[in-house]
Amino acid sequence: MIDVLVVGIGEYVTGLAQQKAAQSDKSFGVVALSLFDMRSRGLVGNIRLAGRDASRFESVRHHFETNLKSAYTDLDTSFEAYPKSGRNDEAYKEALSDMKPGSAVMIFTPDDTHFTIARDALEAGMHVLVAKPLVKRVQEHQILMDLAAKKGLLLMLEVHKRFDPIYADAVDRIQTFGDFSYFVSYMSQPKSQLNTFAAWAGISSDISYYLNSHHVDLLCWAIGEKAKPISVYATSATGVADKKLGRKVEDTITLTVQWENIKSGALATSVHTASWIAPPSDVHSQQRFFYMGHNGEVRVDQAHRGYTVSTDTNGFQSANPLFMKYTPRDGKFAGQEGYGYKSLATFVESASALRDNPSNLAEYNRILPTIQNTLTTTRILEAGRRSLDEKRIIEL
Ligand SMILES: NC(=O)c1ccc[n+]([C@@H]2O[C@H](COP(=O)([O-])OP(=O)(O)OC[C@H]3O[C@@H](n4cnc5c(N)ncnc54)[C@H](O)[C@@H]3O)[C@@H](O)[C@H]2O)c1
Repeated sequence: MIDVLVVGIGEYVTGLAQQKAAQSDKSFGVVALSLFDMRSRGLVGNIRLAGRDASRFESVRHHFETNLKSAYTDLDTSFEAYPKSGRNDEAYKEALSDMKPGSAVMIFTPDDTHFTIARDALEAGMHVLVAKPLVKRVQEHQILMDLAAKKGLLLMLEVHKRFDPIYADAVDRIQTFGDFSYFVSYMSQPKSQLNTFAAWAGISSDISYYLNSHHVDLLCWAIGEKAKPISVYATSATGVADKKLGRKVEDTITLTVQWENIKSGALATSVHTASWIAPPSDVHSQQRFFYMGHNGEVRVDQAHRGYTVSTDTNGFQSANPLFMKYTPRDGKFAGQEGYGYKSLATFVESASALRDNPSNLAEYNRILPTIQNTLTTTRILEAGRRSLDEKRIIEL
């Protein structure tokens, strides 16, 4: 059992976007609900949530009490809130000082804040899980890499697609396809999400950091040491988000990455497109990829599992309970097998195990998505942003 602090109380943690239940596929949130369930299973001890404004916890508690408890009757949704009163951007530091070193910290705040909060949590001796994109710059990645190694702590990236059984199977098959040749991925969110992300979209992060991060990570994981990226060229589409938010912000970003297979020298290409101006459809998020190797190819449409549901309330939907299964069974949460849940539970279990066996860290750094093996993802994402800003190909 391990105590957990979650920094950030937005959509992914609580299901609340701007004080209202999100109009997304996550109106119950992912992180807090999963942790409440893990606490009921004896995996987690105290749960702390840190935001920036104490007054926001009133709506968080109300949302948990009314919405979560109406679905899962016996769920204990209690937590300790930071700041205790008023506004404080660094309330998470007070929470850190109330915790024992070796506890767990999860960071689900806007992308540009991940570095500082992760550094402070490592300095305080905590194991850390950070939402994708881990950090925005290679230099930040390297600082955290060194710090986590020096302190002997786990710093894991929350990339739940790795825990999807079909994506994971595709990655295993890719190992048998010989040299890498071509990859294309697409991921989108509906334009209503631009309201949820109005505080930071186009200011401190962009849609490529936010969504391309998923499939860039997946490709880097699949490729391992077989090939290396040599250049990145990014292009954008505009005209919708800038009108909605009243500032410069791309609607859609495409990264074109040139790769080279290490042994043969053969070239390969990956193309990653992410958008947040999709219209409403049968799914919240389109998400798919196609991979071609020299000896085989694989295609996965993660949004369409051949499972459709229609109701008078919500109309026609393609359901994906493999991510988060919210439908209760006998009044209880029954989503422990979802890959959204598993990603968090794997971190909690690994961080707990490290307290008894610190020597497990090397193995975790080999098999889990950690700061020690995800530098290539950060290099590609940062190069994409620089390519847009500098309007040129970025050599890596
Ligand atoms: N929404 C999703 O589907 C999703 C999925 C996976 C990962 N993520 C990642 O999770 C992170 C948060 O996303 P979200 O959708 O919850 O965003 P959000 O905008 O709904 O919430 C962000 C939260 O962080 C808080 N915050 C900002 N600075 C803070 C600080 N210094 N201390 C404490 N809290 C602070 C904000 O007040 C807000 O509550 C992002 O990095 C995102 O990429 C989101």
